[in-house]
Amino acid sequence: MEKKYFIKTYGCQMNVYDSHRMAMMLEDMGYVKAQNQLDADLVLFNTCHIREKAAEKLFSDLGRALAVKNEREEKGLKTVIGVAGCVVQAEDEQIFKRAPYVDFALGPLAYHKLPNILRQIELKQQAGVLETDFPAESKFDFLPENKAEGGCSFLAIQEGCNNFCTYCVVPYTRGVEYSRPVKDVIAEAQKLIETGAKEINLLGQNVNSYHGEDESGQERNLAYLLNKMAELDGLKRLRYTTSYPADVDDELILCHKNIGILMPYLHLPVQSGSNKILKLMNRRHTKETYLDVIAKLREANAKLKFSSDFIVGFPFETDEDFQETLDLVEKVGYIQAFSFKYSRRAGTPAAVMENQVSEKVKKERLDVLQTKLFDLQTKFNQSCVGQTFDVLFEQKGRHKGQLIGRTPYMQNVHVVAQSEMMGQIQKIKILSATTNSLKGEVL
Ligand code: 5AD
Ligand code: SF4
Repeated sequence: MEKKYFIKTYGCQMNVYDSHRMAMMLEDMGYVKAQNQLDADLVLFNTCHIREKAAEKLFSDLGRALAVKNEREEKGLKTVIGVAGCVVQAEDEQIFKRAPYVDFALGPLAYHKLPNILRQIELKQQAGVLETDFPAESKFDFLPENKAEGGCSFLAIQEGCNNFCTYCVVPYTRGVEYSRPVKDVIAEAQKLIETGAKEINLLGQNVNSYHGEDESGQERNLAYLLNKMAELDGLKRLRYTTSYPADVDDELILCHKNIGILMPYLHLPVQSGSNKILKLMNRRHTKETYLDVIAKLREANAKLKFSSDFIVGFPFETDEDFQETLDLVEKVGYIQAFSFKYSRRAGTPAAVMENQVSEKVKKERLDVLQTKLFDLQTKFNQSCVGQTFDVLFEQKGRHKGQLIGRTPYMQNVHVVAQSEMMGQIQKIKILSATTNSLKGEVL
């Protein structure tokens, strides 16, 4: 009988991409996707370590996975439990101490070893296989071809980060920056388009520091790559994320003027509006230089809108610092944003800073910030009512006959539409709006 896999993904878009590629590897080995955990011979958790909450969630889910494994065992069924992603890199052997029933654990740079590890487990009935060394080779050279799963696809072009923001675990879990060669990126993009992708989102932890080699061995930047991508037949939409504000250069800004398929929406995390806090965070931008980049981008394309990440309650953050964040939010007028309470991560410089902010104050500040951000988001959504947008349909809605798609600004739109429109772009008139979604009709 064919084996079934179940993957649960936590965290960022890079993890969603990694999970997709692991699923492709498993399908290459003859596995099929299980509808739920109870049905799965292999349960894989692809984890996130960015904040404490995300990591703790894994261990409660692992507890539940053990219960399911036991339940299956009573029916004579075997279950392999694996953990991948950033928690593995950070916790190393601790994973097996806390969850001894885990069969294997794979760091984010080693997941190309998944097929071998599964064979090893099968042959030797061996448990507790751990892969956390940063391999010398690039996993991308060992993965089977990527295929699109719908109209929208992610494509990792860069991984790792050399920025060392003082709160962040990424440089430790994903390692130093690595950029994939231009040729490999283009080949993967072509494959994605051939298999149905209309939109490609180029991914990297610090995507605009991309410096992949072209065929002559010359290093090329993100602007070069975006221009190459724009030449691909059949690609209708292009995005890239996540950008580091200080690395947005004039060439990249020009892309927003000249590349028609580049969507008018950019995620540009500022984290804080206070220069004192930005310095403590080791960010290489100030409030002023950040606003300057935004102004230049807007000059290049007046339709461009922005989203951001924010951390509240970073060590030493006073009410005045927080007020500066609120002022910045107002100035930029973000249309979407993610905001978090600062979470102390062991091994990062900020975890041992003095003047940690109390949980109570963090919560209060987060509430105030989110109210403001949601208010801006709602206002933008409402301003879209009556307008017509190109919408790319990505999933079925909860109600019969309904599809959900995305506007160029990443808003979800619910539309009564024929199922053949799935994976296609249609002109949609927006009828109504709430904070989180829009309703529209096919024109
Ligand atoms: N605490 C809270 N938020 C964090 N982020 C990264 N590290 C932390 C941390 N220790 C947030 C940042 C980043 C986003 C992906 O997660 O805002 O941009
Ligand atoms: Fe983390 Fe900063 Fe790198 Fe982003 S830029 S991944 S926040 S270290």
